[in-house]
Parts: sequence; structure tokens; C-alpha cells
Amino acid sequence: SGSADLVIVANRLPVDRVVDTDGTLRWRRSPGGLVSALEPVMRVHQGAWIGWPGGTDEELEPFVEDGLQLVPVTLSAREVEEFYEGFSNATLWPLYHDVVAKPLFKREWWEAYKRVNQRFAERAAEVAAPGAMVWVHDYQMQLVPQMLRDLRPDLKIGFFLHIPFPPAELFNQLPWRRQVLEGLLGADIVGFHLPGGAQNFVRLVRTRVGHKTHRDLITLPDGRPVRAGAYPISIDASDFEDLARSPEVTRRAEAIRKALGNPKRVLLGVDRLDYTKGIYPRLRAYAELVADGTFDVEATVFVQVATPSRERVDEYRRMRDEIDMLVGRVNGDLGRIGRPAISYLHSSYPREEMAALYRAADIMVVTPYRDGMNLVCKEYVACRYDNDGALVLSEFAGAAHELSQAWLVNPYDINGMKAAIVEAATADPKEITRRMKAMRKTVSEHDVDRWATGFLDELDAVKPMKPPIR
Ligand code: G6P
Repeated sequence: SGSADLVIVANRLPVDRVVDTDGTLRWRRSPGGLVSALEPVMRVHQGAWIGWPGGTDEELEPFVEDGLQLVPVTLSAREVEEFYEGFSNATLWPLYHDVVAKPLFKREWWEAYKRVNQRFAERAAEVAAPGAMVWVHDYQMQLVPQMLRDLRPDLKIGFFLHIPFPPAELFNQLPWRRQVLEGLLGADIVGFHLPGGAQNFVRLVRTRVGHKTHRDLITLPDGRPVRAGAYPISIDASDFEDLARSPEVTRRAEAIRKALGNPKRVLLGVDRLDYTKGIYPRLRAYAELVADGTFDVEATVFVQVATPSRERVDEYRRMRDEIDMLVGRVNGDLGRIGRPAISYLHSSYPREEMAALYRAADIMVVTPYRDGMNLVCKEYVACRYDNDGALVLSEFAGAAHELSQAWLVNPYDINGMKAAIVEAATADPKEITRRMKAMRKTVSEHDVDRWATGFLDELDAVKPMKPPIR
């Protein structure tokens, strides 16, 4: 065994590999929230992080970057295709998101998923100290908990799913449903964003695997307990607020509005370019409001940031084309010189630029068909220290359970979305402030540090199983 008291296992490392203009390789902290959430606890413990560095590199040795011990697991080109693009993102991703796209079930992909999960489990078994905590993350790694327990029964193993866990009616389509449940049951604690996900899981374990369950507690035949619970993730709220208050971001927010032609009203969408995010119906709803004269392009603009994602997966390509076409048509039909109806940015931006965009936006529109949590709406709220700004939010985002003061919408209901956008745009400023204040309170009280320490404290308290009496 190794020396790490805390091991994080996630598909991605917390750093991205970047190639400088002179050709040298360098690592850069990934922008994701998970990294900033776990960094403090990683430093307190002797932490190690196991993950894929992206791409299809040659074997890389473990290394220390910025004080974090990183253990790369490399994937071959074929594994990227079968494990990452295939089973993770063309089977599990659509299946777990309400089958908003049709999941593809391919037996070779499942074989690759097992092989790659086994490799991650082996790496974790090598670096974990005796009795260490190992926290496994997300849908790409669901077999790791049991594989790791087989190798290292001394460890405390936690699992957290960052996406929704579907009801039995959908999950049961998966040809390997039983193996996935058994993989997860290797953990001591299985965490979800919402109580509904935990309930779906417990019910499946009872009906499919036949284990005893009582509320959130599962008891395995050997007596080992597995707890399923809800741990809604969040963001580093004070960090975002500080950023939003900074003079640089303040100046940049003003510059953005000026560059947009000083409109009266700015609407904003920020998403990974993913078919679960409901970008198309949102832009359609907005386009109809421009076409029918509710909004005038001289006074109002919709800024949509769409971060490139999983571009080799067919469904993602198709959706990108559809959105490109919609934006082109809307701007062609409704825009004027220097005044597009939709300002569309297919790109990703640093946190500073995002904070400036959040501050520049009067209304943020977040309309996923299904989303485990959705963090951009929480980022928007955290940045509105002025208590201004309206949030239109899908009821199918996990965040809707906490941000109930948003204008909640059903993304399948275009007229309903139009009505909510108009309400948010015409609401009394007092009403906007009342709602934003309440949401800011929620986001600042439940920040990501509370999420991470809450989960890890419970994992730490797990009693190791006594060795069986012979
Ligand atoms: C979601 C998933 C993460 C994933 C991220 C980016 O948030 O829950 O596990 O890392 O999307 O997707 P990518 O495929 O680029 O890692």
C-alpha cells in the first residue's frame, strides 16, 4: 500500500495539459469546481488524485503539481473511443439524463468500461495508505468501488454521482444494470445530489439485487452496511463574490455592456454545449419573443456562451449544427446591423470573464431538460452581491430544489418559458431583490466546502468491518 490518507478517483485529473507556443508542455489547474472544492481537504490530508490527463498520451509517471500529488491514468485511442466517448458519454450519460437522447448499448464499450475501471481501481489500491479514505467520483467510475474493495478491504470507500440517478423504469434498460449496482455497492457511502436519486438507487438494490434495505440503509449479506444519501454540491460562493466585487471584473462588466451596444437588457445563457442543457428550446422561446415584438433587438440581447464539449460524439455534433442553424436564422431574420438578436459564443472563458458576464446580465436563463445540479446558476447568484438580477431556472435542474425563488420553468413548455422570461424582465425591482437575496443566502450558507467536508466527515466515521471469525 501507499502513503495517501485521502485518494480522489475521478475520470479527469484536476489539471489540463497545455502546450505553450514554444512547444513545451505545462499543466494548468482545470477550471472545474470539483478541484477548488477538494483542494483544501487534499492539503489537510496526504491527498492523491487519480485521473485521466486527457488525450491519448504515452504512460506518465505520478507527479506533484502545486503541492497536489497527481497520478495519471492514460487511455489508448481505442479506450477514449469505447470507454469515454462510448460507454460513458453515449450510453450512461443519455440513459441517466431521462433518455433525452437515445442511449447506445454496445457490448465492446462495456468491456472497455470494465477494463478502464479496473485500472483506476488498481492505481488507487497502490497509492492508498492502510485504512485510508478513497472518494470515487461520477458515472465514468461506477465499478471502481467494488473493484477497489476486492483489492483493499481495509479502505473506507465513498462514491459520489455528479449526474442524476434515474428511476428503475429507465435504469433497467441497461443490459449490465446488476453489475453497475454491485460496483457501486462496494462503497460505504453512495452519494447523490437529491434524495430522489438515493431512493431510486435503494429501490433498485432491493428489487434487482435482492439486498435488505431500510430507508437509506442497505445491508449486504455479509452484514456490511452501505448508506445512500443526498449531498447537494455547490460552489465556492465567497470566492465568486470576491471576484465579482473586484475592480477588474467591475470594469470588464461595464465594457461588456458597452461592446453589446449598451442595451437596456441583457439575457445570458452559459452551458457546456450538451443536448441535456435545453439550449435549443430556450433560444427558440427567446426568438419568438423578438419576432412577436415583445423584445426589440435595439434594446435587448441574448448572450449565449456554449463551451465546446465531447465533440467527437455524434449526438453532440448534431446538436451543435442545429443550434448553429437556429442562431444563424434568428440573427438573419431579426437582427439589425450591429444588433444581433443572439450573441453566440462557442468558446470557454476564464472565471474572471464569467464573473463579468454574470454581473453584466439582467436575466440568467438556465433551462436544462435534466441536470444533476447545475452550478452556473449558483455562480450567477453568488456574483450578484448587488441583490439585482433575475434567474429563470428549469425545474428539472437539481438546483431548483434549493433555488425555489427563481422563476421556475418547464423547458418542454415553450409558451411557459416565454411567459417566465417576460415576467422576469418586467418584474418589480423590489421583487427581483427579494428573490435574489433569498437565493444568495442559500448559496452562501451551503457552499462547496460544506459539501466536501460533510461527505468526508461521514466517510471518516465509517467503522471498518471486523475480520470474519473463523
Ligand atoms: C459533467 C460530468 C463530469 C465531467 C464534466 C465535463 O459535469 O458530471 O464528470 O467531467 O461534465 O465533461 P468531460 O466529458 O469533458 O469530462
